[in-house]
Amino acid sequence: MNGWRLVGTLSLLLGAMTLGLAASHGWDVEGVRLAIRATARTSLVLFALAFTASALAELVPSEATRWQRRNRRYLGISFAVSHFIHLGAILTLASLDRELFWKLTNVTTIVLAGTAYLFIAAMTTTSFDSTAKWLGPRKWRLLHLIGGWYIWISFAVAVGKRVPVDGFYWPMAVLVLAMAVVRLVAMVRRGRRGTRPGASGMPA
Ligand code: HEM
Repeated sequence: MNGWRLVGTLSLLLGAMTLGLAASHGWDVEGVRLAIRATARTSLVLFALAFTASALAELVPSEATRWQRRNRRYLGISFAVSHFIHLGAILTLASLDRELFWKLTNVTTIVLAGTAYLFIAAMTTTSFDSTAKWLGPRKWRLLHLIGGWYIWISFAVAVGKRVPVDGFYWPMAVLVLAMAVVRLVAMVRRGRRGTRPGASGMPA
């Protein structure tokens, strides 16, 4: 499956998962918290696929990594869908139980993690040929490079602060570290060859 069909299918699955989790708990606070956590995890996987697509296609050329690179834009947009559902569930939690909401988050997180949403919105908006062309290749590359790494840092913080509390988060921490290693190894190799990341799509 490729392209917009991939985005459509993943969006339907994400929507069904979220509604299913919330309904499984009778639409109460616990169901919404399950949906917040589940969408953070699907976001992490989709982001990892988009963030490493070009680097993996260069480092480990195969049918799978070529598929990943071909669908990098659509994996990125599917990540945005998942993470805006994360935001929707967070806002639902805030409306259902404001006290608990402020126990689970704080102003600093809202400012720093909120900034990640500004990057996600800007990167999604410029994931179309017309808007990417309007922005121009140099600004586009800068936005997707800085935005990509800012979102990576947001995941590193959100997962990193949970590892000491619950070993369950170790596999997510390993994934966060692995995606940075893949990008940095590809960058160093490219530097040695004196080449730049792929011309079209999200920067590698
Ligand atoms: C305004 C911004 C955000 C707010 C208010 C927020 C709030 C929350 C809350 C309250 C939880 C815990 C839910 C619970 O345990 O019941 C959570 C979990 C999480 N969030 Fe967010 N979040 C925001 C943005 C982000 C961003 C930008 C990222 C990463 C790019 C992110 C990644 C995560 C992760 C990884 C978890 C842990 C999920 C798990 O337990 O498996 N969040 N968030």
